[in-house]
Amino acid sequence: MSWTSYTHAHLPYFIEQVPVPTDSEVYIRLADAPRSALTQVHYDPTPRTYHQVTIDGLEPGRSYYFEARSDGVRAVPNLISTSIIDPMTRDGVFTTLTPPPGEYVQTVVVLNDTHVGLGEHLVKGTGETPYSYFVLEDSLKEIAALAPSAVVINGDVTSEGRPHELRVARRLLDAYGKEKQDYFLTRGNHDRPHRGSEDPRANYESGTVLAPELARGTAETSSAKYAADPFYDNVNDFFDLPYQQMWATRKGNLRLIGLDSADANNPAGGTMHDEQLAAFEAELQSDPHLPTICFTHHPLTRQQALTAFGSRPFLLDKRSATRVEELEAAVPGVFAHYSGHTHRGRRSKGHIATNVDFIEAPASGEYPDTYTVVKFYTGGFTQTTHRPDTERVRGRMVPERWSSHGVLPEGTLYRTDHRNFTVVRDLSALA
Ligand SMILES: [Fe+2]
Ligand SMILES: [Fe+2]
Repeated sequence: MSWTSYTHAHLPYFIEQVPVPTDSEVYIRLADAPRSALTQVHYDPTPRTYHQVTIDGLEPGRSYYFEARSDGVRAVPNLISTSIIDPMTRDGVFTTLTPPPGEYVQTVVVLNDTHVGLGEHLVKGTGETPYSYFVLEDSLKEIAALAPSAVVINGDVTSEGRPHELRVARRLLDAYGKEKQDYFLTRGNHDRPHRGSEDPRANYESGTVLAPELARGTAETSSAKYAADPFYDNVNDFFDLPYQQMWATRKGNLRLIGLDSADANNPAGGTMHDEQLAAFEAELQSDPHLPTICFTHHPLTRQQALTAFGSRPFLLDKRSATRVEELEAAVPGVFAHYSGHTHRGRRSKGHIATNVDFIEAPASGEYPDTYTVVKFYTGGFTQTTHRPDTERVRGRMVPERWSSHGVLPEGTLYRTDHRNFTVVRDLSALA
């Protein structure tokens, strides 16, 4: 849990508040024993403005009431939407997860929207590390300790696909492991092929020109005009990630499929070319029963489109989205589909692929700066969401809380039980 200490109650938005350093205390009791005494489970006298505490030793499947205190004053929720919809924020009650039945099999970690390159302007000329670099670096260090079978960075790897951002992303990821063995990427809209004219200082022209036939949707692709101002695919120069191509890999009896939903012609929404959809179908049909998770940067379901800022035009286009759901519905093996892009943590159901959990994971390189741990068992899976616990990431949390005039956290946090949950379903084929 985390909170920030301020001198007084205040509006959640618009007027950035100056935090005050205090000590940190957490008290808990069982939620179904309202008369029992609160037990202090954490005390740290270090004066801090942002407090982040992990409490161990709780029983699985129990509800606890908690109070976080700063200099003896109880922290109260401030964001409006989470105070209404999130029981943990609203009632001060959280319920620990129960692992699914069966044997533990493996762990996969999902990051998305790492946006390497963000925050560079804040430290220009200081020699300090931009926050998007160190949030990823610190996340990967914690993730390495979990020894997952795979890490997937599900799009918006970079801030804008600039060569220098890709170089940093490559360096940080190579310090973690090997591409397509330990870590896998999908592209996001920010990693799409760019034209040199989109940002003359980015040096996109140092990259490989995107073949005109791949730049479809652009009227002049076959003309001399395209030759004069083509798309450059810098991403594929730094990573093994051809534009509009899927990849598939197996970790034990778990199949991971990464789809490229980036659209060179669209800075926000996504698409999938017919060739990629056909390849996706062939891969699924080659082993329809194999337990499978799919990854697209852009969310796609009707529910996701109805509830996201920007609605359908911001997500995967309807034609591609419908086809993806149809293909997933046609095979029994697909059980989860991860997306990023909205920067929010939210679970949804498909309206065609009704047997698939569609999960948006929060952003990893911008508020709330989290990574998502998915543990697989023969009887289901659990998802938990974590913020790296290092001093430099902690130091970013107050300014990020107030980014976008303080409104951003409202849209990204949603409910605790959409970021941390257990799904019980038969995954015995994973064994
Ligand atoms: Fe993003
Ligand atoms: Fe995105």
